[in-house]
Amino acid sequence: MEQLLEVKNLSVSIDSPTGEVQAVRDVSFSLQKGEVLAIVGESGCGKSMLCKSIMKLLPPSARIKNGSISVCGQDITCSREKEMQNLRGKVFSMIFQDPLTALNPTIKIGKQIAEAVLVHHKTYARDEVYQKVLELMELVGISHPKERYHQYPWQFSGGMRQRCVMAIALAADPDILFADEPTTALDVTIQAQILDLLREIQRKLETATILVSHDLA
Ligand SMILES: Nc1ncnc2c1ncn2[C@@H]1O[C@H](COP(=O)(O)OP(=O)(O)O)[C@@H](O)[C@H]1O
Ligand SMILES: [Mg+2]
Repeated sequence: MEQLLEVKNLSVSIDSPTGEVQAVRDVSFSLQKGEVLAIVGESGCGKSMLCKSIMKLLPPSARIKNGSISVCGQDITCSREKEMQNLRGKVFSMIFQDPLTALNPTIKIGKQIAEAVLVHHKTYARDEVYQKVLELMELVGISHPKERYHQYPWQFSGGMRQRCVMAIALAADPDILFADEPTTALDVTIQAQILDLLREIQRKLETATILVSHDLA
């Protein structure tokens, strides 16, 4: 079976005023189509840095010191921003931690999802985009999508906003979904719902998922 993602001996360092911080040290793993990988560890151990180094969303002070990253057999360790832009969304997509800051408060929910659809499906006609948005909203469990399309983020609860963030992450039908602590900003019962939803989507779409958490439970 083809490896979707292969990370070998990856080390990432950050230059800080007090010297070098070894954020990721010698990490190796592989991920196949439809697989779920859980990355668990205490805060500050380098989980987010690991995800960001794969998607090349590292801060300027950070650099890959050692190791390699391959996607579908292609080495992307030294890929430039332009090549990475083609991979982000389509190959890998990320659900961010805080659904409040991930959404634009001034733009209607439906439009924000539509923008993500358009970026990755440039040839879609208006109605195709609209249909895809409704489909995505249904997929992530937003009921009455036609009405909710026209609402703003502040009209959504925290859990519902996280569902919108998931719809945006899924807009380009990614092969790999990074979920970096997707539930930390939510209360406990909603956390369980979002994790169930992730599992359901992963089964339905066969999206390989990397789930990051500091919560062993
Ligand atoms: N922009 C940055 N500048 C300096 N150090 C950073 C920066 N971002 C993260 N770090 C350091 O890198 C380490 C790993 O951080 P991170 O990957 O965010 O941890 P986690 O996601 O596991 O909580 C931490 O020790 C943190 O202090
Ligand atoms: Mg983190």
